[in-house]
Amino acid sequence: MKKKQSNFSGQVGFVLAAAGSAVGVGNLWRFPYLAAKDGGGLFLLIYLVLVVTIGFTLLTSDIAIGRKTKKSAIGAYTELAPKWKFLGILTFFVPVLIMTYYAVIGGWITKYGVVYLTGQASAAAQDGYFTAFITSPVSPVVFALLFMAVTAFIVYNGVEGGIEKVSRFMMPILLVLVIAVASYSLTLSHTGADGETRTGLQGLLYYLTPHTEGLTIHRFLQISLDAMSQLFFSLSVSMGIMITYGSYVKPDVDLNRSISQIEFFDTGVALLAGAMIVPAVYVFSGTEGMGAGPSLMFISLPKVFDAMGFAGTVVGILFFVSAIFATLTSCISVLEAITANCMEIFHTSRKKTVLVLSVIYLAASAVIALGYSVFYFEVQLPNGSAAQLLDIMDYVSNSVMMPLISLLSTILIGWVLKPQFIVEEMEKGSGKFTRKALYTVIIRYVAPIVMLILFLQSTGILA
Ligand code: PHE
Repeated sequence: MKKKQSNFSGQVGFVLAAAGSAVGVGNLWRFPYLAAKDGGGLFLLIYLVLVVTIGFTLLTSDIAIGRKTKKSAIGAYTELAPKWKFLGILTFFVPVLIMTYYAVIGGWITKYGVVYLTGQASAAAQDGYFTAFITSPVSPVVFALLFMAVTAFIVYNGVEGGIEKVSRFMMPILLVLVIAVASYSLTLSHTGADGETRTGLQGLLYYLTPHTEGLTIHRFLQISLDAMSQLFFSLSVSMGIMITYGSYVKPDVDLNRSISQIEFFDTGVALLAGAMIVPAVYVFSGTEGMGAGPSLMFISLPKVFDAMGFAGTVVGILFFVSAIFATLTSCISVLEAITANCMEIFHTSRKKTVLVLSVIYLAASAVIALGYSVFYFEVQLPNGSAAQLLDIMDYVSNSVMMPLISLLSTILIGWVLKPQFIVEEMEKGSGKFTRKALYTVIIRYVAPIVMLILFLQSTGILA
C-alpha cells in the first residue's frame, strides 16, 4: 500500500480539527436539553466524571490506533488483528450512515442563518414555521445540497489545505461567539404574562444546581446512561473518525496533551452552550420551554430570540453562525472518514474518491431531506419513539452501532491486544501518559460493562 502523505501540520492543527469534529449539534442542542431535563448540575457532574474517565479512554484508543497504524478504521483494525477486520467494516458503516443525514441538519441550520441575516426573526418565531419548512419539497433539499457541496469541497482540498485550514479559522470564532451569547444570556430579565420576573442569573442557577429531589436509583442510572450516550456521540468516538484523524498526526506530537485539549474544548463548548441556551429559555419561557433535539434549536429558540426584540436578530445571527461552523467542521470529519477508508480500499486518489462520494451523498441527502414530505412515513423504534427516515438513520448509527463498536473495541484492546499496546503509542516521542493506570483499568474492566449496558438499553432489550 502506498504511504499516506496527508498530515496535520502539528499539534494545534490536529487539536482544532479534532475539536471541530467533536463540537457539533450534539453540544448545541442535545447537551443543554439533557442538562435541563436530567437535573441540571447533577447531569453536569456525572457528565464531567464520565468525560475524564470513559470518554478519555475511548478517545485515546481511537486516536492512538490511528497514529500507530497510519490507517483508517478498516485498514487499522485489520492490521491490529486480521480476525477483527469485521470491526473495522462495522465502524466504517457509522459515518456512511451519518453522512446521509448530517448535511440535511446542516441545511436546516444554514436556512435559519439566512433567515436571521435577512431580518426575518419574527417570521421564524411563528407557530408551524419549522414544520412548514421541513415538509416543503424544495427548500430543505436545496439547503442540504448546498451544505453537502461545501463539505465536499473542503474535503476535496485535503487534510492540511482543506480540513485544517477551515478548522483553524472557524473554531476560535465559534468559541468567541458562544462566549459572547452566553454572557448576554446572563444579563437577560423578563416579566412574563403571569407578572413573574425571571432573570438570566436565576436561569443559570437552575442549570448549575444539582436537582436531587426525589432522586431514585433508577433515575440516577437513567441520567448516567443519557450522559454516556451523549458523551460518545459528542466526542465523535467509535465511528472511525478519530482513528482517521489520528492517522494524520505526526509522530512528534504529544498525544497526551492533545487529547486533554480536545476533551477540554468539547466539554467547554457544551457547558457554554448550556449557559447560553438554558438561561435564555428560562427567562422567556420558564422551565417548560426546553424542547428536545431539533425543536429546541428551530422552535423554542426562535421564540426566545423574537421576545428579545431587536437584540434577538443579532443574537440569532451569532447563534446560527456558530451553529453552522460547528456543524460544518463535524460534517467534514464524517466525509473525511468515509473518504480515507475508500482511498485505502480502492487505492484511488483523494480527488476522485471525493467526487464519487459527492454524487452518492448529494443524492442521499436529497432523499433524506424529502423524508418529511415526499418520502414521509413513520415507524416505531425499539426504544419506543416515533421515527422518520432521518431518525432511523440516527438510531441505527448512534444507538445500536456505536455502543456495540465501543464494546467490541474495548474487548479487543483490553483483552486481546492488551492496553500496553496503546500505552506504547501514547508514550512515543516527548509524551508522558499521565492517566495510564486509569486508562488500563477502564479499558479492561469498566468500559466493556458500561458499553454492554448502554447497548442493551438503547436497543430496547433492557427496558
Ligand atoms: N460530535 C458531533 C456532535 O457533538 C457529532 C458528530 C457525529 C460528529 C457524528 C461527527 C460525526 O454533534
